[in-house]
Amino acid sequence: MIELPKIKASPVYLANWYYFHQPQYKIFVNQGGTRSGKTFSITQNLINLALEKMRTISVVSVTHSHLKRGVIRDFKVIMNDWNIFNENSFNKTDLIYQFPNGSIIEFFSADNSAKLRGSGRDILFINEANLLSYDEWKQLTLRTREKIFIDYNPVDEFSWIYEKVLPREDCCFIQSCYLDNKQFLPAEQIEEIERLREEDENYWQVFGLGNVAHSTDLIYNKISVTNQLPFGEIIYGIDFGFNNPTTLLQISRDGNEIFINELLYERRLTNSDLIEQLEILIPNKFDCIYADSAEPQRIEEIHQSGFNIYSSDKSVKAGIDYCQRFKINIYKESINTIKELRTYKWKQDKNGNKVDEPVKFNDHACDAMRYAVFTHGQKYWSDIGMVFPNIHLNKINKKTNYDNY
Ligand SMILES: Nc1ncnc2c1ncn2[C@@H]1O[C@H](COP(=O)(O)OP(=O)(O)O)[C@@H](O)[C@H]1O
Ligand SMILES: [Mg+2]
Repeated sequence: MIELPKIKASPVYLANWYYFHQPQYKIFVNQGGTRSGKTFSITQNLINLALEKMRTISVVSVTHSHLKRGVIRDFKVIMNDWNIFNENSFNKTDLIYQFPNGSIIEFFSADNSAKLRGSGRDILFINEANLLSYDEWKQLTLRTREKIFIDYNPVDEFSWIYEKVLPREDCCFIQSCYLDNKQFLPAEQIEEIERLREEDENYWQVFGLGNVAHSTDLIYNKISVTNQLPFGEIIYGIDFGFNNPTTLLQISRDGNEIFINELLYERRLTNSDLIEQLEILIPNKFDCIYADSAEPQRIEEIHQSGFNIYSSDKSVKAGIDYCQRFKINIYKESINTIKELRTYKWKQDKNGNKVDEPVKFNDHACDAMRYAVFTHGQKYWSDIGMVFPNIHLNKINKKTNYDNY
């Protein structure tokens, strides 16, 4: 018996390890709320399985940047924590790590069709599997010999996961929430999640408890994921954060469509860190940047560094109304923006009635987009029309009684 590292395990880790070694199960479905330790615990399991005997293991995410900022980062943290990471064993071009016993863990994204249809593997992990299509799932599972892990937040009301995977006899369903990972989460993150209980019942169910979403009143319905980067006239939107991610989006408009590329989505950036990043990410300092008007000092500092930055128009409802006029195309690597916009929804009161304000959770890219599109658009995109938030033309027409004229 090989001695495996003594690890700091969470209940999610233990559940996956235990059921993996039960022969009746082939697929381990980790459905859970946000930050319940799914990805971290599965990655710990994969490393242990690689050490246990010679295996080929594939880790798949929806895009390349999602992989790099997500699982690969966790992989390195764990390997370093266990003192077994060897820089020379990691091929950074092909994203393959080779263990001394011959095991490998390879990382690739689902849009890499050569890999998707390439040679097989013993074990597969699909991170945030709900972002993949059913066809991609089939391609991957057809070529997997031993067992499969998947994880996701149940943000979708309908998904191939619920229909095709959960009913299988060899499927082991492991549901988790932030409480299962409480020992590893900072207090402010726990507070942020628990705030959802008051903020919105549906979000609390999905992101808090890890239960499947019920029909949601989405704010943006015309969203698509594209290979096209913003082009032509470029503007930028910034939502400041510290504990929350600071978000920088690059945006352009073409008729009634906007194109978005996420340049930054990072927690714990000070303003000088941010300015350093802007110097790299914004090549043309004349391009307009729109930022959260609640932070005038940060805006002033960025302005002092030579950027063409403006305080944004903050009226939320009017800004959303304005943005809703556009078809929103999001660059395929902009994974946080895709995830936020796909779940951004109107708040509901305790009786389930829609309230005229969005749920304040996972809304950083949504805000950055609105600041830029609404503030810039009102001023410069005259063909899109002015916004009169309280006037709806069809209502006026209906009310007007022309018989009186
Ligand atoms: N066993 C563990 N040891 C140390 N930290 C952990 C452990 N499990 C989870 N964490 C911490 O909790 C964070 C959230 O876990 P993660 O797996 O990313 O959640 P999820 O994928 O469920 O959203 C991780 O980034 C990591 O910092
Ligand atoms: Mg995760």
